[in-house]
Amino acid sequence: MIEPTIIVHGGAWDIPSSLTTRSVNGVKAAACKGHEILRCGGSAVDAVVAAVSALEDDTAFDAGHGAVLNLKGEVELDAIVIDGRNLESGAVCGLQGCANPVQVARLVMEKTSHCLLSGRGATDFMESQGIARIPDTELVTPEARNEWETYVKFSAAVRSLFSSRSTPPVTSGCDTVGAVAMDAKGNLAAATSTGGITAKLPGRVGDSPIIGSGAYADNTVGAVSTTGHGESIMKVCLAKKVGEQMEKGDTADQAARNALDFMAQRVGGAAGVIALSKDRQGAACQVGHHFTTTRMAWSSISNGQIRWGIDPGQEMISPLNG
Ligand code: GLY
Repeated sequence: MIEPTIIVHGGAWDIPSSLTTRSVNGVKAAACKGHEILRCGGSAVDAVVAAVSALEDDTAFDAGHGAVLNLKGEVELDAIVIDGRNLESGAVCGLQGCANPVQVARLVMEKTSHCLLSGRGATDFMESQGIARIPDTELVTPEARNEWETYVKFSAAVRSLFSSRSTPPVTSGCDTVGAVAMDAKGNLAAATSTGGITAKLPGRVGDSPIIGSGAYADNTVGAVSTTGHGESIMKVCLAKKVGEQMEKGDTADQAARNALDFMAQRVGGAAGVIALSKDRQGAACQVGHHFTTTRMAWSSISNGQIRWGIDPGQEMISPLNG
């Protein structure tokens, strides 16, 4: 019997102290949800979709409910799921009016011959699958609206002061959720979901729905979900880079560290990674994570123990159900 394992993240960014408890509770609850599915014999895909759906439903995170707003004050959502058995994947980008984009990504994987649907086409597909579009107002939290208003006011003030055409950098904002899992059959899967970055240009797509950037899963190697500055992550195909490091023999932790170092040196930018790697027998797996942002909430479950943390180097541990 292979030991089912899951690790989830709630985004790598400058998480304020006022949000740390909610973030940690959210990732622990999502890990438990995914692990319960694995414990009952569910697949790795079932587990990562359930865990990411739980994070999308939690307004502490920038995905589904709680997503940040683009420059026009709208929600545009990106998500991906990958099945490590056969490299099948499905993704959506620029999706609107959807509480659980990861579930639509799964439908793209299972019901179409495509890998990625965008914008209006993604929304039409969602509705064709019996998922009703909801008003974006249901997804938008007061925090996301405040952050957007602050950005717009700041941006206007800077422009009038300096008559500059450049826009100020986005300094706050949540970032992305994800999960990777190994089921009792030894199959791997990864899923990632995000609202992107506050005041992004309408139509901007980040790393999250891109195979090899926001996620990666291959039964012969491992599974990865990333979070952080999408434009940096895409340039180095961060999730695939982590996979390549594991193929070279790195542990999941080392692979995450080395890939993030490579990204920082080559293109700059900060990010976070969660990863599972197969051991030499292809049965049990190593669990790893690393981040170069101020904080990243994460939680993993295996061998009857739950681990979690949010600050660099922090790792709490307790018996599951303990
Ligand atoms: N990492 C999420 C994004 O940049 O959209």
